[in-house]
Amino acid sequence: MDRLSLDVNGCFDAAADGLGANALDALAPAAAAAFDGFEARRRSGELGFADLPRDAATADASAALARDLAARFENLVVLGIGGSSLGGRAILSALTHPFHNLLPRDRRGAMRVFFPDNSDPATFEALLGTLELEETCFATITKSGGTAETMAQHLVLRERCIARFGEEGYRSRCVLVTDPAKGALRAIADAEGLRALPVPASVGGRFSALSAVGLLPAAAGGVDLTALLAGAAAMEARCRSGALRENPALLYAGVLHLMDRQKGRRIHVLMPYADGLRDTGDWFVQLWAESLGKRPEVGPTPFRAVGATDQHSSMQLMMEGPHDKVVTFVRVVQPRADVSIPVPDTYRPHGEIAYLDGHTMGELIEAERRATEAALRKAGRPTVSIQLPRLDARAMGELLMLLELATAYAGGLYGVNAFDQPGVEAGKRYAQGLLGRPGYEQARDELLARAHTDPALVLG
Ligand code: PA5
Repeated sequence: MDRLSLDVNGCFDAAADGLGANALDALAPAAAAAFDGFEARRRSGELGFADLPRDAATADASAALARDLAARFENLVVLGIGGSSLGGRAILSALTHPFHNLLPRDRRGAMRVFFPDNSDPATFEALLGTLELEETCFATITKSGGTAETMAQHLVLRERCIARFGEEGYRSRCVLVTDPAKGALRAIADAEGLRALPVPASVGGRFSALSAVGLLPAAAGGVDLTALLAGAAAMEARCRSGALRENPALLYAGVLHLMDRQKGRRIHVLMPYADGLRDTGDWFVQLWAESLGKRPEVGPTPFRAVGATDQHSSMQLMMEGPHDKVVTFVRVVQPRADVSIPVPDTYRPHGEIAYLDGHTMGELIEAERRATEAALRKAGRPTVSIQLPRLDARAMGELLMLLELATAYAGGLYGVNAFDQPGVEAGKRYAQGLLGRPGYEQARDELLARAHTDPALVLG
C-alpha cells in the first residue's frame, strides 16, 4: 500500500446498529449535490483551498523565505491563532523529529519553530525569556490582518526588536503572511517595508494549511514541501467524483453524516495511533467544529484522542458510555522507528510482563490499535479506519486534503456554509468593547448590562 486508505466497514456492522446495506445508495443524490455544490463554488473562484497543491509559486516563495531566515536565525516564532497556527503546527509535529526544537542544529538541519498560539501572557513571556532574541525571527500570520491575539504578540515583539536592534533589525526579523490586499497587516507590511507572503483571498483560515500559512513554518522546520503538496494533489485528484464509492473524502463525510443523522452518533473522534498526529487531531477539531457547528440542530462534535494514551483515559467512555460516537482510527503502517522490548530472565515468572518478550514497541502499539478497534466493534460502537503507509510528507498531504475536502462536502450534506464562522463574532465584539475600541461601546454596554450575578450562586 503506497497511499492513504479509508475503510468504513465499521459503520456498517449490524451488531453496532450500523448503517443499512442500501444507506450509501440512498445518500447518493445528496452526496452528488454536495460535491457539485462545492465544485461550483470552487470553479467560481470562491473556494481556493483544493487548488493550493498546484500553487508551486507559493511553495517556492515560502521555501525561499524560509531559507533566507534560516541562514540568519536559529528560531522562528509563529504568531498566529486558529487556522493561522494549527495547520503549520500539525505539519511540523507530524514530519519532524518529535524533539526537533531540542536537537542541536547539526542534527536538526533546520530552524527551531515555536507556535505560542494562545495569547496567554505567561506562555508568551516565558517563550521570549527562553529564546535568545538575537537568534530569533518571527512570522506574523493572520489572514484577516487584525486578529487581536496575534497582533498583540506582534506588537510586543516589534517593540522589543526595535528597542534592541533598531528599525532595520526589526524589519529583518519580521515576516508576514496575510491577505494579498486587505486588512491592517497588509497596510502595515507596505508602510514598514516588511516581507509578506499572501494567503489567497479564496482560502479561509482553517483551510489554509497548504498555503504560505502552513508552508512557511513547514519549510523553516525542514519539511519537504514538494512531497507534501504532491500528496495533497494526489488526494485531490482521487476526489474528483461525485460518487460516494469513488471519492474517499465524500465517503468519509457521507458516512459520518449518516451516523449522526440516522443513528445519533454525533461525536466524531479522530484517534491516531501516532504521537506525530496528535496536533493533526487538534487541527481537525477546529476544522470540523468551526465549519459545521452552525445551527442548534447541526454540529457534529469533534473530539481528539491519541492511541494508546487514550486507552487509559477517554476509551472507557467510548466503549461503554452513550451510543453517540464514531471513532476514526488512524494507523501508520510503517512507523519511523521501532524498539525491541528486552525481558530479563528475572521478570519471566510475571506472566503479565513475560509475554512482551520478543516483541517490539511497534508491535505493541499496533496490537493495541487492532484490539481496541475490535473491542469497540464488539461493544456495538462504529469505527472508521484510515491507514497511512508511512508518516511522511506525502501521506500528510493526503491526510490534510482528505479531511479538508470531507469537511467541505459535509457542509453541503448538512446544508450549512462550511466556510464562515459568524458565531465567534459576538465574543470578539464584546472583548473589543471591553478594551475600549471606538465604535464598540454598544457591545461593551450590552455585556456589562448582562453581567449581573446572583450572589447566592457564587461561593468564594
Ligand atoms: O478558520 C478561521 O477562519 C479562523 O479560525 C481563523 O483561522 C482564526 O480566527 C484566525 O484568523 P486570522 O488568520 O484572520 O488571524
